[in-house]
Amino acid sequence: MRIPVIAGNWKLFKTIGESITLVDELKPLVANNHGVEIIVAPVFTALSRVYDAIEGSNILLAAQDCYWEEEGAFTGEVAPRQLKDAGCSYVIIGHSERRQYFGETDLTVNRKTGAAIAAGLNVIVCVGELLAERELDQTFSVIETQIKGGLSGLTAEDLTHVVIAYEPVWAIGTGKTATDAQAQEVHIFIRQLVARLFNPSVADAVRILYGGSVKPDNVKGLMARPDIDGALVGGASLKAESFAAIAGFNV
Ligand code: 13P
Repeated sequence: MRIPVIAGNWKLFKTIGESITLVDELKPLVANNHGVEIIVAPVFTALSRVYDAIEGSNILLAAQDCYWEEEGAFTGEVAPRQLKDAGCSYVIIGHSERRQYFGETDLTVNRKTGAAIAAGLNVIVCVGELLAERELDQTFSVIETQIKGGLSGLTAEDLTHVVIAYEPVWAIGTGKTATDAQAQEVHIFIRQLVARLFNPSVADAVRILYGGSVKPDNVKGLMARPDIDGALVGGASLKAESFAAIAGFNV
């Protein structure tokens, strides 16, 4: 049985104070949500204070990126062990916004993922095709390249610390969700690919999240699909009520 994951990617939103207010509102709303892992990913500057606010609750902390070196002369970067130190149990790697605006490639995703796992973090590795790629029927080949590149060199044991997020770029922040069927077809493709690259039991255990305009009113349909194991939520994670409603998809 795969435990579902509902993760909120707060992107470049909220001050420290606003972040703490949000988790303080969220905590009582999700306190009785059992059988689901709930994760929030604030900006770096808020991580440690948010960790203090969620300690002892059923909410876990994620960062939105990291570097692959442990330490050194790398101005502006944050190392995986520093994220651990701030209270993170997860880090999001390879989000499409990092690929689009900050030069993230499958190679850097791969280095970051390996380093984060080595530091004891779980990693949410993001993949997803552009609209133009979908229209050219390249969805599966794009996803295959991203997964093969991003997970290259990892072991089956490493994969127990990996969650994959499928986020079609055309569905992010657009209000245009992939249909349940469109998402499921990519999710099963990813699971079969993981089976080929690793082994069937790794594929069976790996959680594959959908992301892209997930809202309280479409989460149930998505989660009803056999290979959709959770959601990576942007806009709707910025308000306690809507994120709690998504995290309560099973109640
Ligand atoms: P939206 O839910 O705002 O479409 O964002 C999705 C996303 O990018 C989560 O990482």
